[in-house]
Amino acid sequence: MKNPRILMCSPDFYGIEYEINPWMNTRVDADPARSLFQWRALVAILENLGATIERLEPARGLPDLVFTANAGIVYHNLFLSSRFRFEVRRGETPLFDRRFVDAGFRVESLPEGMFFEGAGDALFCGETLFAGYRFRSDALSQQWIGERLGVETLPLELVDPRYYHLDTCFCPLSSEQAIYYPGAFDDYGRSVLAARVDRLIEVHADEAVSFSCNAVVVGRTVILNDVSPRLKRDLEANGYTVRATPLSEFIKAGGSAKCLTFRIDGEDAASWKREAIRRLPPRPADPRKNDLHSPPES
Ligand code: ARG
Repeated sequence: MKNPRILMCSPDFYGIEYEINPWMNTRVDADPARSLFQWRALVAILENLGATIERLEPARGLPDLVFTANAGIVYHNLFLSSRFRFEVRRGETPLFDRRFVDAGFRVESLPEGMFFEGAGDALFCGETLFAGYRFRSDALSQQWIGERLGVETLPLELVDPRYYHLDTCFCPLSSEQAIYYPGAFDDYGRSVLAARVDRLIEVHADEAVSFSCNAVVVGRTVILNDVSPRLKRDLEANGYTVRATPLSEFIKAGGSAKCLTFRIDGEDAASWKREAIRRLPPRPADPRKNDLHSPPES
């Protein structure tokens, strides 16, 4: 397995300073010492599995910067930057963009007025992009991304505000397998998932509330906040090892293991990275003003 590269941001300035999802309550702040302890434990597990953790400098006034999953989406050498729904998170974008420019990515933004929250809402399972919309990203932006990347995109409407990002209710494990919480989708979404993922592992309502779908997958290991004995058995029966590590301080902001990570080299479940050097489709005719970086095509 290739060495996974994961972008993470230490919770130095993390806290519950506003309420933009049903989990957040400014009267129930996160404990700074416990947050740091839990975050470091996650880092240690990932490093032990052979991942390289690339650190993003924390920034005062951007408490949710720890949730690097929302930076954008990578596809080969292209980084499509998020456009956050809420003003309070928009200050994160220049920091993520700068980071990906420095790392040699071509950084592009969506047209104005489209909302998109990155790997929180857009996850590859095989060659197909599964795209959540409604609470944060919108259907139009997901469609735009599919066209920009030249990949098949399956839009999935999220129906429960507690599962406002796709990564809170759906987690690809490999190109054929995923875990999901059916209650976060409508009938149509459930039928799309059933038709397009060979092996779907169901998470029950009481497991979903402890963010069991919000898992980081490194090879055959699944890392999550909490796992029921039932779900653990199911994952093991499918060939996975499960590592639970408490992330209760981050659940206060509506995030958990997966939200705290961004896979710079592409998720294990994304099969595009195994393709021979694939060229992206040509850029849109009218380059965006805020396209920060466009090195000549090689
Ligand atoms: N408080 C953050 C927000 O509401 C949590 C983000 C969680 N990230 C994720 N990928 N689900 O935006």
